[in-house]
Amino acid sequence: MNDRTLILIKPDAVRRGLIGAILSRFEGKGLKIVKLKMLELSEKDAKRFYDVHVGKPFFKDLVSFITSGPIVAALIEGENAIKIVREMIGPTNPKEAPKGTIRGDFAKSITENAIHASDSFESFLKEYEVIFGSNKN
Ligand code: CMP
Repeated sequence: MNDRTLILIKPDAVRRGLIGAILSRFEGKGLKIVKLKMLELSEKDAKRFYDVHVGKPFFKDLVSFITSGPIVAALIEGENAIKIVREMIGPTNPKEAPKGTIRGDFAKSITENAIHASDSFESFLKEYEVIFGSNKN
């Protein structure tokens, strides 16, 4: 279980046709995509997904952006998946993200930053439940 993580390809990246380019980076690194789903998050689920950020100044914009269009969620498996995937996506703010990282190459701004990945096993469990949990096909 510790070797699984969840990523979301965010609405900006889906709109720009980057689903394949982003997923292929994980496969290229030897990680396995073991579940895949395209969906539109409801406001309620977006708030649950990002509940650690409730009350922060960017929370409203974050929820409104992540619900603005389809996203792609992937369950990714491999040794040290959480750490490796976080390294591959780069820092939250694209201004700080080196070229070669997913955000460094594709993110537009701190809000439209192309991708999310779980930052810990605890976050992964919560996020997985929101996206792939019971009654969510
Ligand atoms: P993500 O990795 O999806 O997790 C929380 C998101 O909040 C983050 O990416 C950013 O898109 C968004 N966000 C917007 N403003 C900020 C900020 N000032 N600091 C951190 N995250 C922010």
